[in-house]
Amino acid sequence: MPVIRTLGTVARQVQQVQQVLPLTVAVRNISFSPRQVTSDASFHSVSFSETDHPKVLITGGLGQLGVGLAKLLRKRFGKNNVILSDIRKPPSNVFHSGPFIYSDILDYKNLREIVVNNRITWLVHYSALLSAVGEANVALARSVNITGLHNILDIAAEHGLRLFVPSTIGAFGPTSPRNPTPDLCVQRPRTIYGVSKVHAELMGEYYHHRYGLDFRCLRYPGIISADSMPGGGTTDYAVQIFHDAIKSGKFECNLKPDTRLPMMYIDDCLRATLEVMEAPADSLSMRTYNINAMSFTPEELSQELQKQMPELEVTYDVDLVRQAIADSWPMDFDDSNARKDWGWKHDYDLPELVQTMLNYFGVETRMVQAS
Ligand SMILES: NC(=O)c1ccc[n+]([C@@H]2O[C@H](COP(=O)([O-])OP(=O)(O)OC[C@H]3O[C@@H](n4cnc5c(N)ncnc54)[C@H](O)[C@@H]3O)[C@@H](O)[C@H]2O)c1
Repeated sequence: MPVIRTLGTVARQVQQVQQVLPLTVAVRNISFSPRQVTSDASFHSVSFSETDHPKVLITGGLGQLGVGLAKLLRKRFGKNNVILSDIRKPPSNVFHSGPFIYSDILDYKNLREIVVNNRITWLVHYSALLSAVGEANVALARSVNITGLHNILDIAAEHGLRLFVPSTIGAFGPTSPRNPTPDLCVQRPRTIYGVSKVHAELMGEYYHHRYGLDFRCLRYPGIISADSMPGGGTTDYAVQIFHDAIKSGKFECNLKPDTRLPMMYIDDCLRATLEVMEAPADSLSMRTYNINAMSFTPEELSQELQKQMPELEVTYDVDLVRQAIADSWPMDFDDSNARKDWGWKHDYDLPELVQTMLNYFGVETRMVQAS
């Protein structure tokens, strides 16, 4: 069996090398690339110190979170240093607010061209199919969330990028401790979204240890925003309630009144993303962190809203798919490691969240009436 003997010899040689040198160091020094690029991989890479500011590419940037993140990063790093990308056509206000480029994360060559031509140093990978949408199209979710991630990881490793990939409360499942859920515990999600996010966490951490990739990941709770609509997640009700309350004074909730889930106002989420990306590498004891702000049920959110809008009527018509997903997710999130390591601190609790959302819509409503 010559092949087996040869493999055995190679394995013994690798073992010997590993005993002498930690594998990560050896791999980093030879700029080994996980895809096809070999010794010239580092030729393309722009080290962070070469530029005053990072040059950022955001994938899937036209969803609920990307436009807001681009605005925050542009304020900090300059308009032209942050490129939004997506496969959808941008609305004109987004198109005119800063650089936008077409990018399909399933097209590896196109992605690589964008990274090289624009001397990208940070990649924020937002493209994904969220939980409810993913369950409705498993094949597409698998392709975008898993195959797409592989392209992103390889390009980030080849070009020495700092890579941010968000994970989610959906990366946990019914066998995880749910109240609260710590950073490290059993993760057996039951959705393709959750499975793909656990895969992303593990692959990112693997690339970090294997290739020295600067991978950073936050597990976001459900994100609530006023000026952008959610993209088909299980926590969407907490955004929709504001729109319906203001439009019609009525809201029909698709989750049971006592379904408790961790939530966060978008400004906290985007600031956390910037903060973890800027955190010194030696402050990060892990590469994937829970972050949290508050945890509430539809009933508690409705009651808080009714303090300001007593006429609001809330009824329940439970969507069984979303309810099953929510029942398998964390009720509260333990984010003590993020608070300890890089100083994470949320600004918005439930009352401030409700007030901020109503202020936003109040302003918008008055503007619509005036025009
Ligand atoms: N919004 C939340 O509450 C929340 C919570 C936890 C984690 N996250 C994560 O944050 C990220 C951003 O979330 P979001 O709410 O903005 O998502 P979203 O669904 O609103 O937007 C995702 C974007 O990805 C784009 N996209 C789809 N296929 C693509 C492809 N092949 N190539 C390039 N782009 C493609 C879509 O056009 C869309 O604009 C996602 O990874 C999501 O899993 C979001």
